[in-house]
Amino acid sequence: MNEATTLVAAARRASAHAHAPYSRFAVGAALLLRDGSIVTGANVENASYGLSLCAETVAVATASAAGRLREIVAIGVIGGAMDADGNATGTTPVSPCGRCRQVLNEAAQMAGVDLPVHCGAAEGDAIRTYRLSELLPDAFGPADLGIG
Ligand code: THU
Repeated sequence: MNEATTLVAAARRASAHAHAPYSRFAVGAALLLRDGSIVTGANVENASYGLSLCAETVAVATASAAGRLREIVAIGVIGGAMDADGNATGTTPVSPCGRCRQVLNEAAQMAGVDLPVHCGAAEGDAIRTYRLSELLPDAFGPADLGIG
C-alpha cells in the first residue's frame, strides 16, 4: 500500500472508535510520523454539542501528548454517516473542517512540512490528496507572532 491508502485504511479503523451519538457521523484520522509509525484519532462528541472534538484534532493532540508534534509528515482522514452498527458508510471523500486545518497547520509548521492531506471515504477507493497549503492558503502561523 502507498502512503495514501495506508493512512486511509488506518483512518477507517480509527473511525470505529468515534463517539458520535448525536451526529451519527463517524470520522477517523491517521497521522504518519517521520519514523513510519501512525497515530490515530476519532471524533469525540459531547452532549453539549459545541464541545465536540474532531478526529484530526484528537489525533494531533495524541501525537503532541507523546512528544511527537514535530514528527507529523502526512495525514489521512475519512468520515461517513454511521450505520446501525456504528460503522462509517459512504463513498464520498471527507476533508478536514476549517478549525482542523488550522490545528494541522501548527503541526505542519513545527515539522517544516507542507502536509499531504489524503481525504478518503468510509468505503470505496476514492482518495483526494491535497497539500495543506491548498486547503488553508495564506495561513496564520507562528511567523505572524514573530516566531520561527
Ligand atoms: N468532524 C470531524 O471529526 N472532523 C472534521 O474535519 C469534520 C467534522 C466531526 C465533528 C462531529 O463529531 C461530526 O464530524 C459531524 O460534524
